[in-house]
Amino acid sequence: MTADELRSKYINFFVSKGHAQIQGKSLLPENDPTVLFTTAGMHPLVPYLLGQEHPAGKRLVNFQKCIRTGDIDSVGDPSHLTFFQMLGNWSLGDYFKETAIEMSFEFLTSPQWLNIPIEKLGVTVFAGEGEVPRDNESAEIWKKLGIPENRIAFLPRADNWWGPAGTTGPCGPDTEMFFYTGDAPCGPDCKPGCSCKKWLEIWNDVFMQYNKNSNGAYEPLARKCVDTGMGIERTVTVLNGKASVYDTDIFAPVISAIEQAGGCKYGQDGEKDYSIRIIADHVRSATFILGDPKAVTPSNVGAGYVLRRLIRRAVRHGRKLNGEGISLSPVAQVVAEQLKGAYPELEQNREFIMNELGKEEAKFLETLQKGEHEFEKLLPNLLKDPRKIMSGRLAFKLYDTYGFPIELTEELAGESGMKVNKEEFDEAFQKHQELSRSQSGSFKGGLGDQGEMAVKYHTATHILHKALRTVLGEHVAQKGSNITAERLRFDFTHGAPMTQEEVSKVQEIVNEQIKRDFPVFMETMSLDEAKSAGAIALFGEKYESVVKVFTIGNSTTDFFSKEVCGGPHVEKTGTLGKFTIQKEQSSSAGVRRIRAVLQ
Ligand code: ALA
Repeated sequence: MTADELRSKYINFFVSKGHAQIQGKSLLPENDPTVLFTTAGMHPLVPYLLGQEHPAGKRLVNFQKCIRTGDIDSVGDPSHLTFFQMLGNWSLGDYFKETAIEMSFEFLTSPQWLNIPIEKLGVTVFAGEGEVPRDNESAEIWKKLGIPENRIAFLPRADNWWGPAGTTGPCGPDTEMFFYTGDAPCGPDCKPGCSCKKWLEIWNDVFMQYNKNSNGAYEPLARKCVDTGMGIERTVTVLNGKASVYDTDIFAPVISAIEQAGGCKYGQDGEKDYSIRIIADHVRSATFILGDPKAVTPSNVGAGYVLRRLIRRAVRHGRKLNGEGISLSPVAQVVAEQLKGAYPELEQNREFIMNELGKEEAKFLETLQKGEHEFEKLLPNLLKDPRKIMSGRLAFKLYDTYGFPIELTEELAGESGMKVNKEEFDEAFQKHQELSRSQSGSFKGGLGDQGEMAVKYHTATHILHKALRTVLGEHVAQKGSNITAERLRFDFTHGAPMTQEEVSKVQEIVNEQIKRDFPVFMETMSLDEAKSAGAIALFGEKYESVVKVFTIGNSTTDFFSKEVCGGPHVEKTGTLGKFTIQKEQSSSAGVRRIRAVLQ
């Protein structure tokens, strides 16, 4: 089955069930500061899920272009993508669990539609947590339809709960549908989540019953809704028995354009294959971002920065194919040609896409040439070092002055049999970042004073931040931090004054962590790695490619707090003393301020 076939089958099926087909929306969300890109089909529908009437009615279906950059560093492996298309159907206060699941089952198994044998299907349902009970109702509906009990897995909130990418909005328990990619389930208890890893998710039905508000509380929605999502790329891969999305009809023409441009063949050299996959994915994303009616162009902020990163990474990997690099436009032309039927904006904006791509490539090539020229000038001196190590400070200077990426410095150094002192580079990088941060005022006072007490308050601030999130909810985000040798002041988002009980609880949690005398660990990694390791990062802060992460706990995986930060921190929390909150007051609308001391 091709991607186009799957798309039209899905739309036709739901139209036949009384759904109105609506247009997908821009990749750049309107009026939503919580995300840079549309990450799911439900995103543009949030106001309707929250209760507004939709002009097309209560049953809707569409396909939506989406970008998720959370896994950008994993792109290059056989499965990760930044751009994908999501099929979705919605009930806005119309049908709920029974009809949603019955329709999903029919579409998946009916010979007229996807014709998947029941033996190849398994599902997960919500196991229950907190105030939301176990979803026995969904499990019963699946059973009645013929999914055997041993193929139904009850999983916790981490797996079977869905809300939009931002921290607030409509959300609820979900039931997810999985396809078995092996010959037959590996045993009687083999179900989604089994260690054989052969169950792959293809569809998600979310039962939207709550709105998570900015205080972190779950308010019941006025009317219950259904939101479903099926990724076209993943489902086509799975249904065609392919091991990788890059082996499907979706990528075949894109890869062949890259092969042609790079003078190489996919499937013959692991490293080149990796680069080809990165180019294929990134050019697809860049083509769609540039082709969007909102017309974002490469820049150093927000969505424009992501676009710049995608294009520049694709250019760099183009150079790995043949040394000279490839032009990305012919690849983008193939993407536009292939998808213009479903996304006419790619045709309408074709010239703009190609022009902007060309401009950004040229800009980056200029940067690269300058950097290379400088490197060549440095080389004779570098080669005098008998250890064949290039100083990290020098590599940083190339980055700082010419925007020359560290990976390229390493590559050039490697060609002359040298290594770059990466640790030193990271250190210089970090120092620079701290400096520019404190200059920009976002850590006013915090890093200016690095005396013993200020360092203690700095660590106490991390513990306090996490304690506030534990007590008040994950919506708590740092808005400001000010430290002197006498006290800390911490501003954070929270919609209401804290109760005396909440203040005591937070204080108690902080003192508990101090008593445990946890070590404080420092690691460096990319921001994405930091986030997936569970680190808190400041929203809206622009981070560089390598960040420092401070973990307070038993180890870097078993911890109380993990936060991206420039430091410095104490080595053990036991040195902090007794923590007392002296004041909790309003700072500005929706922002509270805590003043606390260590004694
Ligand atoms: N919005 C849900 C998802 O993205 C359907 O999985």
